[in-house]
Amino acid sequence: MILVTGGTGLVGAHLLYHLIASDKKVRAIYRSENKIESVKNVFSLYTDDEKLFSKIEWFKADITEVPSMIPAFLEVDKVYHCAALISFNPKDYREMRKVNIHGTAIVVNLAIDAKVKKLCFVGSIAAIGDSLNGNIVTEENEWNSQKDNSGYSITKFGAEMEIWRASQEGVKVVIVNPGVILGSGFWNSGSGKLFSQIYNGFKYFTEGITGFVGVKDVVASMILLMNSEVKNERFILVSENKSFKEVFFLIADGFGKKRPSKSIKPWQTSIFWRISSFLSAISGTPPLLSKYSARSAHSVSKYSSEKIKKLLNFEFESIEKSIKRTSNNYLKN
Ligand SMILES: NC(=O)c1ccc[n+]([C@@H]2O[C@H](COP(=O)([O-])OP(=O)(O)OC[C@H]3O[C@@H](n4cnc5c(N)ncnc54)[C@H](OP(=O)(O)O)[C@@H]3O)[C@@H](O)[C@H]2O)c1
Repeated sequence: MILVTGGTGLVGAHLLYHLIASDKKVRAIYRSENKIESVKNVFSLYTDDEKLFSKIEWFKADITEVPSMIPAFLEVDKVYHCAALISFNPKDYREMRKVNIHGTAIVVNLAIDAKVKKLCFVGSIAAIGDSLNGNIVTEENEWNSQKDNSGYSITKFGAEMEIWRASQEGVKVVIVNPGVILGSGFWNSGSGKLFSQIYNGFKYFTEGITGFVGVKDVVASMILLMNSEVKNERFILVSENKSFKEVFFLIADGFGKKRPSKSIKPWQTSIFWRISSFLSAISGTPPLLSKYSARSAHSVSKYSSEKIKKLLNFEFESIEKSIKRTSNNYLKN
């Protein structure tokens, strides 16, 4: 039996489809019934066969609550740990420590107790050290704890430390560190929101550069790594390093819509995030833009996925192709 955490999120939902389609017995953790509908929607993008979706064994649990998680591990031999809280709102830092670090520690402890054969963890490029002298970032770049890291980065790094603990306790582990993941089905969060906003005429872009990858490649490489002899390694998953401008333009082109036309300069975002956090402090609502999102909108970080390409002969789909498919799915939805 395979256990998937975060099955009601972007990565988890696409992963569930590919595992179930290859006839695996899969148990997926969920917290609320309404989120299961989003997974059904993702399955409908792949197939009309509703039988596949009904093969998932849904299990209600919260990764931060040990009693709810113990029975989830019954007869489990492989775990894909995708659950996490993604936020750049400083107010969510405590909750992110709880879900991302403490929740992962619970998953790890139960995986050790259950003597699972292998555990795959979805990390992030946010948990990899910065590029030195403008060089491309690889899996070897060291984490810099002295830097002003975002709460999300700190907690994803802390979660990885828990996964390495599992490896020391004898569980075979693989960690994937994806860049920004582009994929269908979750149009109100993460990169899905980019598609909705650009479809609705969003006009702005920045020139910062980061790594992007399609969800199809993320789940394909996770499954390949889990079915391989590879153990106790981490892999950056980035198809291409692109500017936000290039990606926004590709999304607009995918919809046949007008490209965003207004370039936002660093000084403008720097004023905007300050006003935004001031308003958030007095209104109690989440800031529209955080300091860390503002910073990443302009920073230039390039990542290399040579390690997984060489080891598994893995070929990434171009970002243009991932965006085309995602925009088509957006229109279908
Ligand atoms: N999206 C990206 O661009 C990106 C890039 C790099 C790395 N990642 C990493 O990839 C992984 C998957 O991301 P995603 O984009 O699929 O995120 P997502 O769409 O926000 O999904 C997060 C998942 O985690 C679950 N979750 C959160 N807190 C939980 C808890 N306390 N107990 C049980 N489940 C909980 C959510 O459940 P509910 O549905 O109940 O909320 C949801 O299923 C994460 O580890 C993330 O850090 C994402």
